[in-house]
Amino acid sequence: MNWKLFIEGFLEAYHLRVTHRKTFARVVFDNLALHDAYGPHSRTIYPLRKVEQLAGTDLTECTARPSLSFIYHVFPNSILAVEPHHVAMLTAVPLDVATTRIRHVALATPEKLHRPDLLDQDVALLKAGLLEDYAIAESIQAGLASDANQHFTFGLFEGMLTHFHRALADTL
Ligand SMILES: [Fe+2]
Repeated sequence: MNWKLFIEGFLEAYHLRVTHRKTFARVVFDNLALHDAYGPHSRTIYPLRKVEQLAGTDLTECTARPSLSFIYHVFPNSILAVEPHHVAMLTAVPLDVATTRIRHVALATPEKLHRPDLLDQDVALLKAGLLEDYAIAESIQAGLASDANQHFTFGLFEGMLTHFHRALADTL
């Protein structure tokens, strides 16, 4: 796949129900995300379904991190995924227009290593979801190779993709 397809998959939530029916869609809400832009970079927050358990609790007494997935797009080609029990650093290195090397590093604090079950569960979910994204992105790349479309129009749920491509155009 082209490296931009890899990045785009992290920046919108409406494909989760279809692409990630058995993985992410079980733990996050359908098409619900919070987006913020920081210059060319961005942050997308996916609330996990378990955030509902915090309803009625004193939010000054707890941290939101276990109930949220934070996706930082570090422009242009890196993603920092801050998950409940680990942090994943993903870097997309373009090899040619349709081939990308993904470097995926999983990081955990020493105290998290005392709960390898939670850590393994966290990492396994992310990896399973990413494999689904890779399959879809490769399929999109194959469609692009047909040259049937000269351009694509992003939809209302794809605002951060528009932000990404505007930043890329400005930089180039
Ligand atoms: Fe995805």
